[in-house]
Amino acid sequence: MDFLEIMRTRRSCRAFDPEKSVSREDLLKIVEAGRLSPSGCNSQPWKFIVVDSPEAKEKLCDAIVVEKGMTGAPWRHQVSAFIIFVEQSANVMPSVVAHYHDTQRFAPGDIGIACMNMCHEAHSLGLATCMIGMNDQAKMEEYFGIPQGKDVRLVLAIGYAADSSAPVNKVRKPLEEVCSFNHW
Ligand SMILES: Cc1cc2nc3c(=O)[nH]c(=O)nc-3n(C[C@H](O)[C@H](O)[C@H](O)COP(=O)(O)O)c2cc1C
Repeated sequence: MDFLEIMRTRRSCRAFDPEKSVSREDLLKIVEAGRLSPSGCNSQPWKFIVVDSPEAKEKLCDAIVVEKGMTGAPWRHQVSAFIIFVEQSANVMPSVVAHYHDTQRFAPGDIGIACMNMCHEAHSLGLATCMIGMNDQAKMEEYFGIPQGKDVRLVLAIGYAADSSAPVNKVRKPLEEVCSFNHW
């Protein structure tokens, strides 16, 4: 598939086929797309925790429900596998620290890039994904042994779409609103 076609046809999936599981081989291809991703100063400030056992998935499903039962993934129990994106300390160049007084300035963006590349790789393999933004940090640490204070920035749900023929609905701001040349 042409790359722009991958971009046009990928969509966030919210209805997964609970009967079809994603192979470890495909999961590792997806992780490889993240591992190869660019990052500020090549700091690679991430750890990817792949969650595919029934017990671990049950815990993950609990950890993506936050206060008052709110969750971005009411469909979470249909999902074949998840990837947890944990932000690591970034080893960036001294000039970055001198300018921003912050080693983590680029890290959330880096994680977003890695996650997006994984979504596109998954789509090219015929798989469906959805990013999940909210999680309960304390439960993530407790269930998955994540060191205290290492932020879980994202969770990615991966599986087979329940209906892969569903139309892709891309709601996007018009080009003129989001892009200009040479000036604001
Ligand atoms: C940081 C981030 C967090 C997201 N969290 C959720 C979520 O919790 N639940 C959900 O259904 N979609 C979530 N999404 C998916 C967005 O809603 C989706 O990307 C957007 O509506 C555009 O649709 P598309 O991905 O199908 O092109 C998230 C996306 C991003 C980038």
